[in-house]
Amino acid sequence: MSANILGITCDTPIVIAPTGSNRAFHPDGELAVARAAKTGNHLMMLSTVASTSIEDAIAARGAPVWFQLYTTQRFEIAAALIKRAEAAGAPAIAVTLDVRAPLKWPTAVRLRRTDTRDCASCHTPNSYLSSKPNFAGIDLAGTTGTTVTNLTWDTVKRLRDTVKVKLVLKGILAAEDAKLAADAGIDAIVVSNHGGRVEDGVGSTIEALPEIVAAAGGRMPILVDSGFRHGSEILKALALGAQAVCIGRPYLWGLGAFGQPGVERVLAILRGELRAAMQQLGAPSLKDITPAMVRRA
Ligand SMILES: Cc1cc2nc3c(=O)[nH]c(=O)nc-3n(C[C@H](O)[C@H](O)[C@H](O)COP(=O)(O)O)c2cc1C
Repeated sequence: MSANILGITCDTPIVIAPTGSNRAFHPDGELAVARAAKTGNHLMMLSTVASTSIEDAIAARGAPVWFQLYTTQRFEIAAALIKRAEAAGAPAIAVTLDVRAPLKWPTAVRLRRTDTRDCASCHTPNSYLSSKPNFAGIDLAGTTGTTVTNLTWDTVKRLRDTVKVKLVLKGILAAEDAKLAADAGIDAIVVSNHGGRVEDGVGSTIEALPEIVAAAGGRMPILVDSGFRHGSEILKALALGAQAVCIGRPYLWGLGAFGQPGVERVLAILRGELRAAMQQLGAPSLKDITPAMVRRA
């Protein structure tokens, strides 16, 4: 099951998707996730708004970690984050494209009424980003959060000129955008709908994947995430042309329940399921997984 993802060899094509504020789930936060990723030799992406810095995550992982980038409303902030991540040894910057409007989470809105805690004790004005270690020392004037309303293909061109390591776009859902990404010299894309957390009516990534793979035409590797819960589902994405599959919530459930051993267990279950599914289909290695293994109605 070993996979080479943009020059990094891993024991598995199952990748840790970036999720913010992991200390909300367990006091060890992203350090526990990084150590679990090390145990199973998984590629990890660290969120811009992680509760651990990129330097500490790379140290805990014991290997390079990709840095997920929210560009924020000011390019200078993005440039400073890129510089920091590159200096720390991140071999790729994955720019998230898909948080473009304030999010409405009905569960959060409903629960807010019953939550009697003093929000201002943590969420003082403009404190969200400044409380995140990756922003330490960066002037945050003019920006308040991760919602980015001014990100265009011109910004992507500017990012391409700024980023010295690999540049990845996360949040592509259409063949047209995949083609624009390839034309812009992007190194890889992550087909993602952010786990369906941004837009209720959005389509699934497994449905979008084949047209995106076709549009990319082999010019760049394609990763996918959102909703993958079993090894057999991961195998279907690989069969339809994904090079790797990222997971988000499943490892967070393990983290919240048991910390590092919980994340290790979730990853081991997924690896075991993928292995079993490959054996069942007679695919001894990832390159033996083919589109014909998935029948579509
Ligand atoms: C709690 C949580 C926080 C997240 N934070 C980020 C983030 O900071 N940056 C980002 O690019 N994606 C973020 N995501 C989206 C994930 O990277 C990923 O696209 C998604 O979780 C994959 O779907 P899955 O959870 O169904 O596996 C977050 C997802 C969750 C559940």
